[in-house]
Amino acid sequence: MSQAEEHAGTRRDFLYYATAGTGAVAVGAAVWPLVNQMNPSADVKALSSIRVDVSGVDVGTQLTVKWLGKPVFIRRRTQAEIDEAKSVDVSSLPDPIAQNENLTGDVPATDENRALDENGEWLVQMGVCTHLGCVPLGDAGDFGGWFCPCHGSHYDTSGRIRKGPAPRNLPVPVAEFVDESTIKLG
Ligand code: FES
Repeated sequence: MSQAEEHAGTRRDFLYYATAGTGAVAVGAAVWPLVNQMNPSADVKALSSIRVDVSGVDVGTQLTVKWLGKPVFIRRRTQAEIDEAKSVDVSSLPDPIAQNENLTGDVPATDENRALDENGEWLVQMGVCTHLGCVPLGDAGDFGGWFCPCHGSHYDTSGRIRKGPAPRNLPVPVAEFVDESTIKLG
């Protein structure tokens, strides 16, 4: 089973994951120093970086993978989603910062500064609501992106917060294409 298949799941899975998440993260934090001590740097590298096969992700769908104990959304956007994301006036956003770990400094939250590739087809972001950490639902909310049902935060098709209590855009982790169908996280 590929990593992608292993982690693909339904919304129900992720709602469950959200309620179980806090415990899982706490365990991870306790285990980490031990691994670090015993280890050879290669082990740490294996834990902190994964490769995801995205060849099976159709336009207009997303894959959710678990990385470092947290869900990561990998979405292959439609042209309409990309156009919508690009049309937004950044100065009108609650969080005007890109929140992209691949870029240095507080660059503006344009869609170009958040998408993975030049065409803007791929968006990779942490699937953790910036309010209190629930897992938002895809293809949902008032802005056609993600919706966090816990307290009603709406994110747009670029993963930027648009309405509700969440203070920041969904963070974009370190990610890159290592070949045409593989994305490396970390
Ligand atoms: S945790 Fe998402 S809105 Fe509160």
